[in-house]
Formats: sequence, structure tokens, C-alpha cells
Amino acid sequence: MDAAPTPPAAPAAPMMAPPQLADGSELVLRVMPLPADANANGDIFGGWIMAQVDLAGAVLPARIAKGRLATVAVNQFLFKQPVSVGDLLSFYARVTRIGNTSVSVHVQVYAERNPADLQVVKVTEADLTYVAIDDQGRPRALPK
Ligand SMILES: CC(C)(COP(=O)(O)OP(=O)(O)OC[C@H]1O[C@@H](n2cnc3c(N)ncnc32)[C@H](O)[C@@H]1OP(=O)(O)O)[C@@H](O)C(=O)NCCC(=O)NCCS
Repeated sequence: MDAAPTPPAAPAAPMMAPPQLADGSELVLRVMPLPADANANGDIFGGWIMAQVDLAGAVLPARIAKGRLATVAVNQFLFKQPVSVGDLLSFYARVTRIGNTSVSVHVQVYAERNPADLQVVKVTEADLTYVAIDDQGRPRALPK
């Protein structure tokens, strides 16, 4: 008598971009770029990625500032890998400095691509600084 067929091995859990990174960075935004955000080769414009990083980077400073904010500086910006139409981007942020009026953050962006054989790739890293501002647009002390 033939041995019972061995059941196929359970598929490995897909390696999806997690809600938190090992360094404590938290997921602050997920977005998928559209064809309108790409050039003729299907690569996403760097300016579109920078705009999303600016939005994502403001999430944690806004919680600390509890009011109006302005981006004062993009201290570093690194495009490590191209982003393509169809990539699902996850933006992670952690606060790196809290000053008198300003909050600095480190933002990391990961792309989930190729759903049939899922890959998660770091595509961008940046450091930004936001300033709490008052009604006149002047720097204001962060609330204690
Ligand atoms: C943001 C703004 C109000 C700051 O005013 P300012 O008089 O230049 O500010 P200051 O020199 O007093 O610096 C304010 C804070 O920013 C920090 N800062 C200023 N330049 C910085 C830089 N290049 N990198 C990191 N932090 C910086 C300062 O260290 C200070 O932080 P602290 O109080 O925590 O120590 C003003 O520059 C501004 O309105 N800029 C335009 C903002 C804007 O339009 N952003 C784009 C759209 S949101």
C-alpha cells in the first residue's frame, strides 16, 4: 500500500512591513503611489516621496507640539532604492531630539513589492526638524 501523501508544507508567513521597527520607530503612514506620480519608466518622482516623508515626519512632532507646526529643515535625505508604481510604502518615524521649540525625527520608508513573492525593501531615509509656531508664525515653546 502506498504511503499517505505528505501534506504540502505550510507557506512561510509573508514578510509584511510591521507596525513597528526594531529601533522603536512607529508606523505613521502607509500609501501607494499612483501612475500620475511616476515618470515614463514607472519610477516615482523624488519630490512626491519627499512630500510624503514631510507629512509622515510631522505626525510625532504634532503630538508633542499640540498645535501649529512648520518644517524648518530637511537635515538629510537619502534615496536608497527607486520606488515603482504598485509598491506599497510604509513610513516609520522616531523622535531623535526635543528642543525648546523644535522636534527632530528620523523617517524610514519601506516598499512592499511583488505580491506573488513578497519583498520588503528600504527605499528612503531622512532626518527632518519641525518647529512649533504661534498664531503669528513665530517659534513657540513646546508644551511641558
Ligand atoms: C520655522 C520658523 C518659524 C523658525 O523661525 P526662526 O526664527 O528661523 O527660528 P529659530 O532660529 O529661533 O529656531 C527655531 C528652532 O528651530 C531649530 N532650527 C533652526 N534651523 C534648524 C536647522 N537647520 N536644523 C535643525 N533645527 C533647526 C532651532 O535649533 C530652534 O530649535 P530649539 O528652539 O528647539 O532649539 C521660520 O524659519 C519659518 O517660518 N520658516 C518657514 C517654514 C515653512 O514655510 N516651512 C515649509 C512649510 S511647513
